Amino acid sequence: MMDVGRHPNIKLLAYSEIESISGYIGNFHVRVRKKARYVDETQCTACGECAKVCPVAVPDEYQLGLSLRKAIYIPFAQAVPSAYLIDMKACLGTNPIACGKCAEKCDKKCINYDMQDEIIEFDAGVVIVATGMDVYDPTELEEYGYTRYENVITSMEFERLISAGGPSDGHFIRPSDKRRPKTVGFIQCVGSRSERRGKPYCSNICCMNTVKDTLLLKDHYPDVEAKVFYIDIRAFGKGFEDLFKRSKEAGVQYIRGIPGEIIEDPVTKNLKVMVEDTTTNRISEHELDMIVLSVGVTPRADMPEVQQLLTLSKTPDGFFMEAHPKLKPVDAPTSGVFFAGCAEAPKDVKDSVTQASAAASRAMTVLSAGKIKLEAITSVINPEICRFCTICAQACPYKAIKVEPKKKSIELIEAMCKGCGTCGAECRFGAIKMRHFTDEQTYAQIDAYLEEDPYNKIIVFACNWCSYAGADTCGGARLQYPPSARLIRTMCSGRVDEDWVLYAFRKGAPIVVVSGCHFVDCHYIDANRWTQKRVEKLWDKLEKLGIRPDRLFLEWISAAEGQRFAKTMIDIERHRQRVTKEEIEYTMKVLSEQK
Ligand code: FES
Repeated sequence: MMDVGRHPNIKLLAYSEIESISGYIGNFHVRVRKKARYVDETQCTACGECAKVCPVAVPDEYQLGLSLRKAIYIPFAQAVPSAYLIDMKACLGTNPIACGKCAEKCDKKCINYDMQDEIIEFDAGVVIVATGMDVYDPTELEEYGYTRYENVITSMEFERLISAGGPSDGHFIRPSDKRRPKTVGFIQCVGSRSERRGKPYCSNICCMNTVKDTLLLKDHYPDVEAKVFYIDIRAFGKGFEDLFKRSKEAGVQYIRGIPGEIIEDPVTKNLKVMVEDTTTNRISEHELDMIVLSVGVTPRADMPEVQQLLTLSKTPDGFFMEAHPKLKPVDAPTSGVFFAGCAEAPKDVKDSVTQASAAASRAMTVLSAGKIKLEAITSVINPEICRFCTICAQACPYKAIKVEPKKKSIELIEAMCKGCGTCGAECRFGAIKMRHFTDEQTYAQIDAYLEEDPYNKIIVFACNWCSYAGADTCGGARLQYPPSARLIRTMCSGRVDEDWVLYAFRKGAPIVVVSGCHFVDCHYIDANRWTQKRVEKLWDKLEKLGIRPDRLFLEWISAAEGQRFAKTMIDIERHRQRVTKEEIEYTMKVLSEQK
């Protein structure tokens, strides 16, 4: 952080919040609120005289409330800039008559109670999101008694207690009586890998964090007995297995089983747990002086705000979604935005540094190019036909369409458009055309497929990234699917226009299938949610026209699901065989009249 603070090409805006980001790759405009510190950071020498005279004491957030800080304080020892700031909510000094002691004491006259927030605006070519993570709060797990039992702490609190800069100057002590514990238990996977409470995913870092903590403990106090209760230890990184072995060799006991409950002795404040060791199938009881809950990692609470600022999308676990998990792991789906660290998924320091380097390199490829090459696959809007209904702007996952109905203006920012075609499918006035996979091409394919023997065909609209690739996987694996299936590739299932489906039915298709990526996998953020809405509307419409809605299928098939593709098509073919010629002819007649 010091290096960052000193670097001539890096401007560090500490104690600041981004208010808005507009624009697009190569052309972002950022507005930042630099919060008032009430201390001139350029003059403050961090001598600390002000804090000595401050009469206010509040819980220190950095020390997780295990110690107190003053209203004028430095957030943590290595903070950059190394300058004090005033917590105005706690300070008495806004009215100098009430206090004002720090201002009196400061020789440099750095303190200014009237300081205001500052708004800073600048342009940026790219944005790297490195917003970090939060940790799971185990209070809801009543059986563990966190906050009820003083000697049950979290792994984060353990870090503070054993740190030389911590509230006990590195002396590891029990909160209840301030004496050194003789037996310490660690419970793994608290808030992780649980469908019921906490998070269903593995938090990635907790096993090795506990292994490290036990080594630290044994290093400081070799006589302390440490026991780790775990489901399984995931020591998969370079050197991790060695560390795990070292911990066991140091005498740490690893017990494969998670205690159901912690019981406190009200007099001694010792803690008792019962656990079934799943390697021996024996139940054992353990009395411990202290228990450390190895808490998992959660997405930051303010992720929705960041998500909105940059039109990002999230995976079901709540972390930001990358453009492609294998091929573009540090790129956001929004061009010019990159991820580093736990904003994208839980990861340890090494992986965070690796990803940060990758994100910086990706950013440099954009910045050093000077120009940005865009894919030609974008939408084209005809303002003459547009009625300014704004549905396209709402449907665009990238917010690439700017419509001002009052001014009757519509603009597509091509640099932001990814060409999914959802806008084109949603536009009811035909004002949006795609440069690729055009309407004309699609209609020509439907015509060609249904020209001969239409009653024996299944028209399948398959998105380029998942379902079409799933069909490829199916073929590559030599799996058989019925020859009646005729695939029409679209960039996204969101591109499948209602009129295409009706046209296929009008031309005699017994069955139409719309297929795309699973919800979280859509390559265009959440464009396939529009697919779902559209297909649901179509089902209603078909029903009203007396056409069986179950002749229109909506299927989510990923690129890896070749087998699922084959099975789905076999099932649908069976269904097709039950569609009668009369039904098809009725459909053709009704839809032709509707035209
Ligand atoms: Fe496959 Fe959107 S890219 S459904």
